[in-house]
Amino acid sequence: MSDLLCRKALYQWLKSEGKSDWADEVRSLCESRYTADAHGLMSDWCNAWQSLPKFNDVVFDASQSAVRIDSASRHRVDESMRELLMKFHPWRKGPFEIFGHFIDTEWRSDWKWDRLARYVDFADKAVLDVGCGSGYYGWRMLAAEAKFVLGCEPLQLYNMQFEVIRRYATQRDRHFVVPLMDTDLPDRLWLFDITMSMGVLYHRTSPIDHLKKLHQTLKPGGTLLIETLIVDDGSDVLIPEDRYAKMRNVWFIPSIKMLELWLRRSGYRDIQVIDVSATTTQEQRSTPWMTYDSLASFLDASDPTKTIEGYPAPVRAMLTAKRD
Ligand SMILES: C[S@@+](CC[C@H](N)C(=O)[O-])C[C@H]1O[C@@H](n2cnc3c(N)ncnc32)[C@H](O)[C@@H]1O
Repeated sequence: MSDLLCRKALYQWLKSEGKSDWADEVRSLCESRYTADAHGLMSDWCNAWQSLPKFNDVVFDASQSAVRIDSASRHRVDESMRELLMKFHPWRKGPFEIFGHFIDTEWRSDWKWDRLARYVDFADKAVLDVGCGSGYYGWRMLAAEAKFVLGCEPLQLYNMQFEVIRRYATQRDRHFVVPLMDTDLPDRLWLFDITMSMGVLYHRTSPIDHLKKLHQTLKPGGTLLIETLIVDDGSDVLIPEDRYAKMRNVWFIPSIKMLELWLRRSGYRDIQVIDVSATTTQEQRSTPWMTYDSLASFLDASDPTKTIEGYPAPVRAMLTAKRD
């Protein structure tokens, strides 16, 4: 079993890649952001994590829609397991199946994975996933033979959800989530074969700075995978007056053409649109594992092609691009 928040293997990997300075910086950022008073629920999460059952015969399978953890001895796990997992509510990105408990997350992240997996070859690649949430995609990437996955996720709850899964993972030394934002990433890192940013661009007040920062994380010839809300109503970019689909922190929603221009100006080439999908209330919805309001409440009840504020309902595009 791994220790909670033990990232030794991450620092070793960074050092082996010639990034000792960054390893030290990441370690100190992690330590400063993981103090006992960093979040009011931190001690509850740590206690719940410590109470997770131990088995010697864990099976970990991330090759299917739900990342599955199981054990032949799971008959020993009672209802308290559900209660422990519920300490980490709301579960937004997944699904997971843990000792027979199906964590039906708010998002069918497996659908997003299916949209991208046929276009991106993860075999033997070092991957950075910026805004990775619970780390769901990282496990799928390892199952697709990625060499190493580093996720950046500022919200501590999602870091802790990742730690719950990592506790049972067989490849736990090849996947880490750290509490960093895009702005914490150093210039001229040039470390990753693939950098992903999904659902982050429209949360940034300066989307071009975000794209340029991601560019600096890639090795020459490396691939960016960007996924974002887009507009396809003929305008270049939507800047909501205030909220978009009840979200306070949405700044720029570009058209695909505008996004392609932002990418070119940020130093990318070979830009390809691999998917455009409207987000449906089947893909994003409230469940017993995420009991707060979800997309259905964020759309206009009389016209679901509009958000509650009257903007076009969410459509997302996924693009790949190469670093110059
Ligand atoms: C809409 S969710 C998308 C999660 C996941 N990438 C996906 O596509 O399913 C955006 C995530 O990015 C994180 N985030 C927001 N701003 C960020 C930033 N500046 N740097 C890194 N992550 C950020 C949020 O905490 C959240 O988990």
